[in-house]
Amino acid sequence: MKIVASPAINTIQKGDMMNMNNLFSFQTSKRIIAGNGSLKQFNEQLPSLGNVSRALIVTSGTFKENGSLDLFTGQLSEAGVEFESFIDIQPEPTVEHIEDVFKRMAGKKFDLLIGLGGGSVLDATKLLSVMSTNDIPLKDMVGTDKVKQKGIPMVLIPTTSGTGSEVTPNAIVTFPEEELKIGVVSRHLLPDLVILDPTLTLTLPPRITAATGMDAFVHSFESFISNKANPISDMFALESMRLISRSIIKAYEEGSDLQARHDMLLGSTYGGMALTAAGTAAVHALAYPLGGKFNIPHGEANSMLLPHVTLFNLDHIEERMAIVARELGMVEGDTVPVSEAAQVLINKIQEWTERLNIPQKLEKFGIKEEDVPALATAASKVTRLLNNNPKKMTIEDMEAIYRRLLK
Ligand SMILES: NC(=O)c1ccc[n+]([C@@H]2O[C@H](COP(=O)([O-])OP(=O)(O)OC[C@H]3O[C@@H](n4cnc5c(N)ncnc54)[C@H](O)[C@@H]3O)[C@@H](O)[C@H]2O)c1
Ligand SMILES: [Fe+2]
Repeated sequence: MKIVASPAINTIQKGDMMNMNNLFSFQTSKRIIAGNGSLKQFNEQLPSLGNVSRALIVTSGTFKENGSLDLFTGQLSEAGVEFESFIDIQPEPTVEHIEDVFKRMAGKKFDLLIGLGGGSVLDATKLLSVMSTNDIPLKDMVGTDKVKQKGIPMVLIPTTSGTGSEVTPNAIVTFPEEELKIGVVSRHLLPDLVILDPTLTLTLPPRITAATGMDAFVHSFESFISNKANPISDMFALESMRLISRSIIKAYEEGSDLQARHDMLLGSTYGGMALTAAGTAAVHALAYPLGGKFNIPHGEANSMLLPHVTLFNLDHIEERMAIVARELGMVEGDTVPVSEAAQVLINKIQEWTERLNIPQKLEKFGIKEEDVPALATAASKVTRLLNNNPKKMTIEDMEAIYRRLLK
C-alpha cells in the first residue's frame, strides 16, 4: 500500500509560528540519572529518597528470569534496605489486576516503590503509589486531576523504549467491561527518581522493540502536530524523532547494539516529555479501543493507525511534517516543496513498519466489519486526546479509518 499526499505548492519554512500566543507549561520527574550501567548508581541516590527502610519492587517475571532483578536486589541488601518483590504484573494491566495487587500491599508499610519494567509495570507502580495514600477507588481516579494526595515515593526504571511513562503524569488502565483503556492523569504520578539504563533493554525481543519504538515515535510525532504543540514540546519531540529514526531499525535487527538501544531509550523518554507538554492525538485515541477490546499491543495499534490518521490530517499538518522530514535529514535544504517533503516522511514511516514486520491489517487480530461501529464509538469517547488533533474527526471519519485497516 502506498499513501500519497496532495501535489506540491509551498516550500518548507525555516521555522513556523505555531502557537506563538498560546500559554504553555512543563513539568517532569524530579531527578533523572542516565547512561549505560546507571542502575548501579542507585544506592548513591538513596539518601535523596528520604528514610527508606522497606521497599516494594514492582516488576514482571521477565526480570526474575533474566537475572536483572537479583542484581538489583543484591544492591538493595548492600544498602541495608529490606524489600519485597511483586513479580507478577501483567502486560497492559486491567483495573481488577491493579486492585488485586494493591490488596497484597495491605498492612505492609512500604516507604518506597520501585517499578522495574515496561510501561505496564511503570503505570502499575504509579497507581499503587497513589492508591496507598488516597482513600478513593481506582475507578474514581480516572480522568484528569482526580488524585488529591502525593503517593509513596517512587523510582521508575523503564526496560522497554516506548511509553516514556517514567516522565509522564499518566497511567493507563484497561477497563474490560467498557472494552477501553483509560488514563489517570495527575502530577502526583510523576516519580522522584528515574533511572535510564540502556543495558536493561538489551534483552527486549525484536517484536517488542519494534512496537514500543514506534509507540515512542508516535508520541513525539503527535506532540509535534498537536493543537497544544509549543516550543518545549517541539524541542523534545524533534530530538526524540531524530534519535528514533536513526536507530529503530538497528535496535530491531541487532538487539545487542548498545548505541542503538541508548538512542531508543533516550528518544522514548524525550517522547514522554513531549507528550506531557503537548499531548498525543487521534492515533492514540483510535488505538485505545484496539487495545481495550482486542488486546492489540499498544505500539502495534499506533503503528497501524499512524499512516491513515496522518493522511486524514494531512491538509492541516503538511508544513509541520515537512519540518520533521528536514530535521530528520530525509530531505535536504529548504527548497523542497512542502507536500513533497511530507510525502517523503509518510513513505519513510511505511518503510519502517514494513521492515519492522509490524502487522498492517486488523483482520490479523480477528477484527471484522461488524466490529467497526463499536470501535469508532469507543474511540470518540477519548475526547482528552481527540481535542489535541489538528483536524476535527467525526465518528464517520473514524469508521472510515478503521475500515481502511480491515484487509
Ligand atoms: N503512562 C504513559 O504515559 C503511557 C504512555 C503510552 C502507553 N502506556 C501504556 O503502557 C503499556 C505498554 O507498555 P510497553 O509498551 O512498555 O510494554 P509492556 O510494559 O506491556 O511490556 C511488553 C512485554 O515486554 C516485556 N519486557 C519489558 N521489558 C523487557 C526487557 N528489557 N527484556 C525482555 N522483555 C521485556 C514485558 O515483560 C512484557 O511482556 C500499555 O498499557 C500502554 O497503554 C502508558
Ligand atoms: Fe503510546
